[in-house]
Amino acid sequence: MKLESLNHLLLATVSTLVFDVGAFAQETATTTPANRLVIHADQGKTTISKHIYGHFSEHLGRCIYEGIWVGEDSPIPNTRGIRNDVVAALKQIKVPNLRWPGGCFADEYHWKDGIGPREQRPKIINTHWGGVVENNHFGTHEFMDLCEQIGAEPVICGNVGSGTVQEMMEWVEYMTSDADSPMVNLRRQNGRDKPWKLRYFAVGNENWGCGGNMRPEYYADVYRRYNTFIKNYSGNRVYRIACGASDGDTHWTDVLMANAARHMNGLSLHHYSLPTGSWSGRKGSATKFDEKEWFAVVKHAQIMDDLIVKHLEVMDRHDPRKRVDLVVDEWGAWYDVEPGTNPGFLYQQSTMRDALLAAGTLNVFNQHADRVKMANIAQIINVLQAVILTDKERMLVTPTFHVFEMFTAHHDATLLPTELACADYTFESNKIPGLSASASRDQAGRIHVTLGNLNPNSAAELTCELSGAKVQKISGRVLTADDMRAHNTFDQPDRVKPGSFTDAKLTAGGFTAKLPAKSVVVLELE
Ligand code: AHR
Repeated sequence: MKLESLNHLLLATVSTLVFDVGAFAQETATTTPANRLVIHADQGKTTISKHIYGHFSEHLGRCIYEGIWVGEDSPIPNTRGIRNDVVAALKQIKVPNLRWPGGCFADEYHWKDGIGPREQRPKIINTHWGGVVENNHFGTHEFMDLCEQIGAEPVICGNVGSGTVQEMMEWVEYMTSDADSPMVNLRRQNGRDKPWKLRYFAVGNENWGCGGNMRPEYYADVYRRYNTFIKNYSGNRVYRIACGASDGDTHWTDVLMANAARHMNGLSLHHYSLPTGSWSGRKGSATKFDEKEWFAVVKHAQIMDDLIVKHLEVMDRHDPRKRVDLVVDEWGAWYDVEPGTNPGFLYQQSTMRDALLAAGTLNVFNQHADRVKMANIAQIINVLQAVILTDKERMLVTPTFHVFEMFTAHHDATLLPTELACADYTFESNKIPGLSASASRDQAGRIHVTLGNLNPNSAAELTCELSGAKVQKISGRVLTADDMRAHNTFDQPDRVKPGSFTDAKLTAGGFTAKLPAKSVVVLELE
């Protein structure tokens, strides 16, 4: 089958497809390059919500304390207790939203513990994460201040597992109402006159597990009850996120959609990438791994794609008008903690492998931008696949940070339909498509293409056919390294960082590019 006729067939049904080049390479003989991308620049319909590029901050390990909050009296430069270096870095990646206070912590968090004079706030035990004492110095006001400093929208996760309906109702009133009511006056007394704008509110977290070990039938009813009392005060309209499934648990999705779909705006999904696939045994090291574990992690972008397709199939059966969005509010790599660190703190390094996982997954989210409206990588600082690591006063950004920065071009841009035919990346008897891609057009008319070469051993020649647009200029940046384990350390914080990319050339119909092994590339076409 010729590529042209294949295009018509594909465009009638799907906007994007990754398929095995072998099948049609035989028929198109030597003229077909091994890797071919078609971008339909005149066919974009869907906006890539910038909220796909969201982050997650939990009271876990050194994410909040030290990572974000150092207190007003700290020698580390801060604004009202929040680290200035971290705020400056987060502004570079234009964090669109930030989820807080958990995670598992959310279902044991009582928000009233975290307001008022700090020295009078009660201390609690963080039972999920290391059993450490939480002094509640970082609470609602501090979180909202952080969001304002970095320009992110807050995503608050309420306590369903151990909190009351009244407590949740009052929290929303405290944050969003302008009335002359006891809750609102309490907020004023604590120094905030005007209500905050709060769009995103999640009713519990992992309520099938740490959030209460509920069955989906039970949680669906609990969700309906709690959600009833989340009100829209003073012109604020809440986008309601129900706790969704873990990984491939489509039964959870099915029951939630059957019983509560009309009460929610978004249903969540959590998926983590573990090299060994084992939660109980060795997960695998973040920095000391071989190609087997490289492959096992980078293939998770494709697994994410499969999961999204599966859950959407179930959601769409109950909601054919596709009103309820999919919200992937926890995703990322999960390794064994760095040697010598607290196992309950989930502190891990981040290498080029994580950069490829991030790029592949973000390309997948872009491709599903019609239904995936929000996602949150876990977690923002010092926990799991962090974009920032700190060591007391020192700070570094990880390869994953650079990917988020390179992909900012897609925020709220129009997704351009693409077709990618590429050679497989084969390891032992397993194979995945060797490349990952997505493209968008921004409001200034520029086209951005993000590409990942998952193969750590070979460069990939890519030919791109750009239909429906004339471009005169191509430029790009690349993130790569000599070693797949390359990462930034406090002594070498710039070992992995993007450089300019000169291996892309305009052609009569589009462009060609040579993607280095294990690389992430962003191209701009004008
Ligand atoms: O991100 C770490 C934990 O992973 C979260 O607290 C929980 O929701 C998930 O299991």
